[in-house]
Amino acid sequence: MCKIINSSRNMDVISIKDFSKKKIENFLVESEKMFEYLKNNTVPKVMQDKILGTLFFEPSTRTRLSFTSAMYKLGGQVLGFGSTESSSISKGENLTDTIKVVENYCDLFTIRHPEEGAARYIADITDKPVINCGDGGNQHPTQTILDLYSIQKLKGKIEGLNVALLGDLKHARVMKSLASALCMFKANLRLISPVGLEIGPNTLNDLKKFNTDIFETNNIKEGLKNVDVIYVCRIQKERFDDVYDAQRLQREFRLKLDHLTNINKDLIILHALPKITEISPEIDNTPYAKYFEQVYYGIPVRMAILNMVVE
Ligand code: NCD
Repeated sequence: MCKIINSSRNMDVISIKDFSKKKIENFLVESEKMFEYLKNNTVPKVMQDKILGTLFFEPSTRTRLSFTSAMYKLGGQVLGFGSTESSSISKGENLTDTIKVVENYCDLFTIRHPEEGAARYIADITDKPVINCGDGGNQHPTQTILDLYSIQKLKGKIEGLNVALLGDLKHARVMKSLASALCMFKANLRLISPVGLEIGPNTLNDLKKFNTDIFETNNIKEGLKNVDVIYVCRIQKERFDDVYDAQRLQREFRLKLDHLTNINKDLIILHALPKITEISPEIDNTPYAKYFEQVYYGIPVRMAILNMVVE
């Protein structure tokens, strides 16, 4: 059976920065237990009397469906919406009222919202546990736990690895969350972005506090020297003022096969997905591409998160 890790009544998962390294390690250990339960078909139905509310005010495929699948596998049930058009938000209902209503129908929430800070706000107005599935360009903590789990699983460790984060580092919540966690786990960072889409001085200063080796560049080839992991994210077009600028960068800033000459043969390439044009399609067929394996790990990791939040 699952071990009870957190005995507090209401644990929220809002920002990866709210957790100690020890706590994140607990998430990874519990995720591995779920991985084994899934493999052996012995998943404990610990959510049998629980209902998960999935309120997604922004599009999602993996995060919403993997939480749904994780909940079903643990014996629980799911309700909610995947777009605001199908809820009373489209009639003008405000966020507070929506939460105050839906909290009557479910035992915990998974929330995705376009505004930074929305998940924290919701956690403040409800007594039900809240899991942030992305708030604007700010945080995506469950993706980060899944990314750490994937790196640990595929590389056997995190500490000391050279990890390149490549793409739109200014707007991607996936990258901001992951960068903090990687520094906490003592990985070295290569931050590779187009000009103008750097991670930004505030985040960079936060990262530097962990005293790991951090190197910023706008040149893909230069940034990929001696890396163990390349983590790619798409240009976050929906967060641009100028959509043509986003489209130009989608064409210009891409990981191509010829970037992978002279690389470490054990290299792995990860991506939170969806991928659009930022990875050339031939790379999908190389042994380095691990993003579809990474997707599978979303199930055990989210099962572990659900269990730990409720316990
Ligand atoms: C990411 C997101 O929504 O932030 N997707 C995901 O959750 N797997 C990445 C992205 O949209 O680029």
